[in-house]
Amino acid sequence: MTDIQRLENDGQLKEIAELAEKIWHECFTEIISEEQICYMVEKFQSYNAMREQTENQDYYYLGVYENGVLCGYIGLKPEHDSRMFLSKLYLEKGSRGKGTASEMLGRVFDEARKNGKKSVYLTVNKDNLHAIEVYTRKGFEIIDSVVTDIGGGFVMDDYIMQYRL
Ligand SMILES: CC(C)(COP(=O)(O)OP(=O)(O)OC[C@H]1O[C@@H](n2cnc3c(N)ncnc32)[C@H](O)[C@@H]1OP(=O)(O)O)[C@@H](O)C(=O)NCCC(=O)NCCS
Repeated sequence: MTDIQRLENDGQLKEIAELAEKIWHECFTEIISEEQICYMVEKFQSYNAMREQTENQDYYYLGVYENGVLCGYIGLKPEHDSRMFLSKLYLEKGSRGKGTASEMLGRVFDEARKNGKKSVYLTVNKDNLHAIEVYTRKGFEIIDSVVTDIGGGFVMDDYIMQYRL
């Protein structure tokens, strides 16, 4: 049974940080370099980075549990306009291919509606073909592309995708 819960404490955020490090190193090796993965995990998904995001930048995280065991996570940020930013949607390998992402996206749309938003948007690496297929299947459309300098000599080369609620 899949259960999706908003994180309530620091201990849960630490668990997400550990899972994030594992998932990122396992899923992005064919898309970006090992150096860039390490850099991005530290900058965006370490416990300290996520604490800063949740305390000062309006982000919140949800844990995804399969039979009580953490297997994925969602990162969200309500923008000041009518959009919800889907910052992270991650599942560990053993939990993929079972439709869990559809349940996660259903929860994302519920969260967006609860916050009075009219759309959900995200950025996805142009070479992350599986994620692009899943998002497209679930009704997202590519609306733009963006190259973001993230420091350290690295860039993110992404599509911006949007879902209208
Ligand atoms: C992206 C991710 C969360 C998707 O999870 P998943 O387990 O692979 O996807 P699911 O099996 O739950 O499928 C979700 C939906 O997409 C559909 N789908 C899956 N693969 C598809 C494909 N290749 N083409 C079209 N549709 C596809 C499924 O049928 C399902 O739709 P349905 O429920 O309406 O039938 C997961 O692959 C992941 O964590 N990847 C690594 C991290 C990542 O890249 N995250 C996104 C960063 S932007």
